[in-house]
Amino acid sequence: MPNHPYLDASVAWRIKNDKIGFREADYRTTVQAIYESGLAAEVRGIISTGKEADVLLCGYNGAPLAVKVYRLYRTSHRGGTPIKLESAGRLAAHEFDMLHQAWRGGAPVPAPARRVENMLSMRYLGGERAAPRLNDVRLDDPERCLEDVIAGVRSLARAGVVHSDLSAFNVLYHEGKPWFIDLSEGIRVDRTGYSPWMRLEAAEAALTAGLRALAAYFRKYRLEIDVAGETEQLVRQLDRWEVRGKT
Ligand SMILES: Nc1ncnc2c1ncn2[C@@H]1O[C@H](COP(=O)(O)OP(=O)(O)OP(=O)(O)O)[C@@H](O)[C@H]1O
Ligand SMILES: [Mg+2]
Repeated sequence: MPNHPYLDASVAWRIKNDKIGFREADYRTTVQAIYESGLAAEVRGIISTGKEADVLLCGYNGAPLAVKVYRLYRTSHRGGTPIKLESAGRLAAHEFDMLHQAWRGGAPVPAPARRVENMLSMRYLGGERAAPRLNDVRLDDPERCLEDVIAGVRSLARAGVVHSDLSAFNVLYHEGKPWFIDLSEGIRVDRTGYSPWMRLEAAEAALTAGLRALAAYFRKYRLEIDVAGETEQLVRQLDRWEVRGKT
């Protein structure tokens, strides 16, 4: 008898059909973790629950704060056993780093405050309600917004960051301006570690994909983005070591 599948068929069926709840932090546990971490003194409610993370509206010294909590457990597709992902902490740490780098460089991102384990706090964008995603607003002045979005992508690059999940879902529209969020897979393009060549390759792929996604959004307003031209210009700007040579 082969050792596969290693789960009883009925258990596998229950996992596949969501009949077994995995041990994922529930709301109360998440709130408690936030209090224990000292990231916030008050949790006011949930802004968003997603596949990978929840975002909560919190308060600290009376001021609002957004706290993003990465999930610790994810269902493994190989066998269905819950695996504790060390990567939750790594993602939060990386996102914090990226936000900090981008914010310090003057890019339009929510200012990061602190990170503890799989949680990070940052400036809350919104008023009574959280700021909408670009995808969910009807723009009065789409041309202006497109200019601001492109300027934002450029200023991220100047700050040494390339967003690798860029789309109208990861841009919030707040006070008439686009703000870039969800930088957990951002690429630092100004640091040693990976070779400049590898970073440029990754940056180029991410910029092409991201600008394409944004182009698809702005097409609704009959506006175009020169994806290839913009990417080339940005990559050239990032190529401080001129590893690509001159073309
Ligand atoms: N600083 C913030 N201020 C206000 N709202 C925020 C802030 N950061 C995130 N949000 C809200 O939370 C949502 C999810 O945030 P984000 O995109 O960073 O998480 P995510 O990793 O995409 O989560 P998932 O992909 O699992 O849905 C955003 O679409 C936005 O509505
Ligand atoms: Mg997102």
